[in-house]
Amino acid sequence: MGGGRGGEEEAAAAPLSGRGGTYCNNGPVTRASLNKQPHEVASMFDDVAERYDLTNDVLSLGQDRVWRKEVATAVDARPAQKVLDLAAGTATSSLPFARTGAYVVPCDFSLGMLQVGKRKHTWLPFTAGDATKLPFKDDTFDAVTISFGLRNVQDTDTALREMHRVTKPGGRVVICEFSHPTWAPFRTVYTEYLMRALPPVARAVSSNPDAYVYLAESIRAWPDQPALAERLQKAGWSRVAWRNLSGGIVALHRGFKAS
Ligand SMILES: C[S@@+](CC[C@H](N)C(=O)[O-])C[C@H]1O[C@@H](n2cnc3c(N)ncnc32)[C@H](O)[C@@H]1O
Repeated sequence: MGGGRGGEEEAAAAPLSGRGGTYCNNGPVTRASLNKQPHEVASMFDDVAERYDLTNDVLSLGQDRVWRKEVATAVDARPAQKVLDLAAGTATSSLPFARTGAYVVPCDFSLGMLQVGKRKHTWLPFTAGDATKLPFKDDTFDAVTISFGLRNVQDTDTALREMHRVTKPGGRVVICEFSHPTWAPFRTVYTEYLMRALPPVARAVSSNPDAYVYLAESIRAWPDQPALAERLQKAGWSRVAWRNLSGGIVALHRGFKAS
């Protein structure tokens, strides 16, 4: 899930994509910090919006498409159901749900990402909103989903509670996020790759190689599969389970709101 000049580039295809970059008082900087200040994160994505999907496609080597199909299967959207795609960016992640005939609301707090998305997908009801303070009433959606977004939200637990609040009783949540490879030898190689090999690769293919430092750090700092499942439970979700994709490079977590 790439980015462009001056922004974070983040991979949907683990090894080769990423997003990052933020602003400080001195102007644009190319690397987001792990405290994920909301205005910095939003600015960072505003900055990469125009080239986001193109960079993603190039850098993810097609892996993001495979993962998105798995997300669609997990969400299992049906015609006329209401689906919230949170941190939807340009709504590339929303399209698989829209194709099922569900009513999909792409929501994001980066106006730049929303504007680029709206130009491409005029029929979708793009909505500006912060994951930690959602502009929707209680019990609105049959399903709430977020792809490669939760890791960038400053207050994860508040976002998980907000997602629970706007989901109808009996509804579900699906989270698609980078995670931790489960096979220890592979995990070691992958972590080494993220921290050592990714920056040189990024220098070769990206206009913003520093963004990969944020990508690598934010993935490394992200809770592993059981820890994220526990946080979902604490936020009120029940029957929480997860499925690893690509050996755990990505994990899909699913939970339900009690009926
Ligand atoms: C890596 S992009 C993912 C976009 C899309 N879901 C996809 O899979 O291509 C992360 C998105 O999260 C959004 N985001 C980060 N924090 C957010 C928040 N607190 N509220 C709403 N959107 C947020 C960013 O603006 C950005 O568009």
